[in-house]
Amino acid sequence: MVRRAVRADASQILDLVAQYATQGLMLSRTLDEIAARIDNYVVATDGTGRVIACAALEEYSPSLAEVSSVAVAPAHHGQGLGSQVVLGIERLARARDIEELFALSLTDNFFLSLSYKPTTVSRYPEKLARYETLTRSGVEIVPKRCFQKALGRSWPTPQLVEQALTVRQKVG
Ligand SMILES: CC(C)(COP(=O)(O)OP(=O)(O)OC[C@H]1O[C@@H](n2cnc3c(N)ncnc32)[C@H](O)[C@@H]1OP(=O)(O)O)[C@@H](O)C(=O)NCCC(=O)NCCS
Repeated sequence: MVRRAVRADASQILDLVAQYATQGLMLSRTLDEIAARIDNYVVATDGTGRVIACAALEEYSPSLAEVSSVAVAPAHHGQGLGSQVVLGIERLARARDIEELFALSLTDNFFLSLSYKPTTVSRYPEKLARYETLTRSGVEIVPKRCFQKALGRSWPTPQLVEQALTVRQKVG
């Protein structure tokens, strides 16, 4: 099940992110940071309700955000969960009228398979500024490739289907 995260998920999100942060695959987060921004997270859970995947929306401006902290529990890799939580983040971004998403990753194919286009992080001075702050505070930044996706102002599929049905009902 893929859903918006709630406060009670924060420690499980922390566990997922922490194991990959130590490998330099993503920035580490504290429990307080996750809990304070829990509205920006999407999680996937297994049949018992345990969090097995997560992703976060990090907003830089009213129209630009990063897809960050994409993490799937090792036992569940390759089952489409990473894709599902990123699609959940895209729905959240659309609901907030965000027009462009970017992501940084060492795993090329993952974002390409979700129709993101390769770009350069220099397009995002907001992100570079954040990197500089982190570097100054002693955090080691692992260089990654950058991907972007324009969301535009198109309606999400469920709304389009709903509209198509309404039109068909009126016509029929
Ligand atoms: C990267 C990660 C999020 C992918 O999650 P996942 O649930 O295994 O991915 P999906 O099953 O949705 O895969 C979608 C596509 O991504 C690609 N992909 C996924 N993992 C990949 C990997 N490790 N290397 C190369 N391509 C990969 C595949 O092309 C796959 O398409 P396919 O099903 O046609 O083969 C997961 O491996 C993970 O948690 N990695 C460690 C954390 C990390 O690196 N996060 C950084 C942000 S990507």
